[in-house]
Amino acid sequence: MAIDPKQGERDYYSHVGAQGIEHSLGKPFTDDYCPQYLAVMTALFSLMAPPPRRIVEFGCGTGWLSMFLAQRGYEVLGIDISEDAIRHARAAAQARQLKTVEFVACDYESFAGQARFDYAIFHDALHHAESELDALRCAYAALAPGGCVITLEPGEGHSETEASRHAVAKYQVHEKNMPPSHIIKVARQAGFTKHLTLPHPHQINRLLYRRAYHQAVSQSDANGRQFLSVWRTVRELLRWRTDPGLVILWK
Ligand SMILES: C[S@@+](CC[C@H](N)C(=O)[O-])C[C@H]1O[C@@H](n2cnc3c(N)ncnc32)[C@H](O)[C@@H]1O
Repeated sequence: MAIDPKQGERDYYSHVGAQGIEHSLGKPFTDDYCPQYLAVMTALFSLMAPPPRRIVEFGCGTGWLSMFLAQRGYEVLGIDISEDAIRHARAAAQARQLKTVEFVACDYESFAGQARFDYAIFHDALHHAESELDALRCAYAALAPGGCVITLEPGEGHSETEASRHAVAKYQVHEKNMPPSHIIKVARQAGFTKHLTLPHPHQINRLLYRRAYHQAVSQSDANGRQFLSVWRTVRELLRWRTDPGLVILWK
C-alpha cells in the first residue's frame, strides 16, 4: 500500500496531547517566541490595508493568528490539513464569539480559493509542504487581482536543527529549509510577477528593545547602551539580512 507522505501532518495534533493543544491555542503568549510572533503581527498590520479585507491563512494550525486578524476586523479563512487542529480552532473561535473567521480542514496544495482573497498568509507553514510549488500555485489562484501572499518561514538550516530532526523522526512531518530565495524562485514558477524580501520583523526589535538597559548603573551608562543598540541596529539594517525574512509576492 502506498504511504501518504502527508499523513504525519494530518495526525500531528492528535499526538501532542492536551498540553500541546493548549500551547498551540494559547499562542503567541504560551510560546518562547512570543516577542517574535507579536513583531510579526505588528508587521502584518502595518503592511496590509486596514479592514475590511479578505485573508486566507494557509496552514493555520489551531488558528491563533487567524483569530488575531479577525479580532482586528478582517474577514479570515484559516485552512489546515489537520482535522483535529481545525476542530480546536472552530471551538476557540466560537468561545471567543468571533464572527468573521472561518476554519476549514483542507490541503493547501489543492485549495480552490477562486480569486477572492486580498491576502494569503503562510506563517511557519510553507516549510511543511510536500510541494511548495503546488501550495504557491493554490495561493496564487486564491488571490484577487492585485492581491499578495506574505510568507514568514524559517530559513536556511532549519531542517538540520535538533528540534526539526526530532519532529521529523517522532511525527513524520516535513521540516524543510525555506529561505526567501527559494520561495521567490518557486513563486515565479507559480505565476507571481513581483516580490519583495524584508528582514524578519523581530530582527530589528531585538536590537533596539533590550533587557540589558535595566542593568544600567547611571544615566551615562544608559545613554551608552542606547547608543550601542542604535549603532547595532543601523549596522543590521545595512547588512539587510533577510534569511529568515518576510517575503511579499504579488499576483
Ligand atoms: C509549524 S505548524 C504552524 C501552524 C501555525 N501557522 C502557527 O504559526 O502556529 C505548520 C502547520 O502547517 C499545517 N500543514 C502542513 N501541511 C499542510 C498542507 N499540505 N495543507 C494544509 N496545512 C498543512 C500543519 O498541519 C500545521 O498546522
